[in-house]
This record gives sequence, structure tokens and C-alpha cells, in this order.
Amino acid sequence: MNKKIYQIIKSKNKKKLVCLTAYSKPIAKILDKLCDIVLVGDSLATAMYGMKNTHSVTLDTMIQHGVSVASSINSAVCVVDMPAKSYKNVAIAKKNAKLIFKKTKCDAVKVECNGKNYDVIRGIVKSGIPVMGHIGFTPQYYKKFKAQGLEEKDKIKLIEQAKKNEKAGVFSIVLECVSTSVAREITKLIKIPTIGIGASGYCDGQILVTDDMLGLSGFYPKFVKKFVNLNKIIEKGVQKYRNAVINNKFPTDKNTF
Ligand code: KIV
Repeated sequence: MNKKIYQIIKSKNKKKLVCLTAYSKPIAKILDKLCDIVLVGDSLATAMYGMKNTHSVTLDTMIQHGVSVASSINSAVCVVDMPAKSYKNVAIAKKNAKLIFKKTKCDAVKVECNGKNYDVIRGIVKSGIPVMGHIGFTPQYYKKFKAQGLEEKDKIKLIEQAKKNEKAGVFSIVLECVSTSVAREITKLIKIPTIGIGASGYCDGQILVTDDMLGLSGFYPKFVKKFVNLNKIIEKGVQKYRNAVINNKFPTDKNTF
């Protein structure tokens, strides 16, 4: 097994896992120093490309961003999201996972769970590619946001999905917008690390979309905390540049040949 993946599994109950998304080289370089897992999430659809949801991101787009990010990652585990429709059946999933793995040189792929695709996960894992699972609010399968696991029947379903993901061979699993009690129960029940996003501090690790926590995306649902307001900082920088250009203070002799 890939040594980095093994370390992630072994970290359960020992340390909290720090995870964030990256879509580009400069961000990946920073995250590699500070994160355990860097995810090239298909959230790039909304965060970068201004799409309504993640439903129509292509495999080519994920590979292109995956190449850029993975080439800057040394110590962290680099995971690339399998986009919607890229894992319709086991054969298609294996072919596309292999393509992502080979072209990007990432460490693993992530597959959203629709409650049925365990054979797909098993197939990819058996072909030698580590898989990260994803349950709860799985954006590829929803049109509208809804917190998960608040009703009794959903709790049972989510716990079952987590166990089935583990059995299918995932090395860790994202719990997205899952109720605190369900996240706590799943984290206790399974042996692989749970990575929460809006799923309480009981998870073994946390992930956020980097553009959200840096205040770049303008998307701030309840589960996001803005740790810095990059929008404001960038605006200030651009304002300074604008003033300098308008007042002929830039470029100066220092910037010319
Ligand atoms: O696409 C993504 O960024 C994700 C994370 C939010 C877990 O799936």
C-alpha cells in the first residue's frame, strides 16, 4: 500500500487530519506544507468556473487541474475527485480512475456515494488505486442543499453507507453536512478516518473548500468559517495599483528597461 495512504489510516485516534481543496499550483504549494490531504475537488465548478453545480464538470477539466496540483505536492496525500458520470459502471470507473491516476500522478481518487456504487469503489480499489469515499450531502446527486441524518431513517441509511464504503475498501471517508450524532456514531464505528465538512468536531479530520475559508468565493453557508478575507485584501491591492496607474506613479524607472 502507498506509504502516505497507510499513514492516513494509521492516524485514526492519534491526530486530527487537516484537509483542504486546491485547484492550482500556487495554492497547492502552500497547502502541501500544512495539510495532510489536498483534494482537487470538483467544487472547482462553482468556486472557479461559476457553474451552478458540479454536475457537468468534465474528466479533462479534473485531469488538467489535477496535473497542476499534484506536481506541487510532496508530503500531503493528493486526491482527485472523479467527476459526475465518470463512474457510471465498474468498467468505465476503472478506465477513468486509471486515466486520472496516470496523467495527474495523484495518490488517490474520490468517489461520491449514491448508496449503490460499492462495486465501482471495489473495482477501482482492486485495480490498485486508493479511493476516498464521500457520503451525506453528495453534491453530484443533489440539486438543492439539505443537511443529512436528521431523521431516524436517514441515520440508519448513512451508518450503513459508511460501513459499506469501508467494506468496499475506501481509505477514508468524507462526511458532508451530516448531523453531529450520526458523524459521531460513524466515527466510532469504522476503522478508517472520517473527514468532516459541516459534520461536527467528532470527525477524525476536517475539510473545507479553500476558496470559501479564505473569503474568496463569497459562499458562506453555516458550516464555513472565513479564516481570512482575501477578497478585501485583493481589492485593496488592486485599488493601490489602480491609483498608481491613474496618477502615473507606476511604472517607475525601477520597473522599466
Ligand atoms: O468537491 C469538493 O471540494 C469536495 C469537498 C467539499 C469535500 O468534495
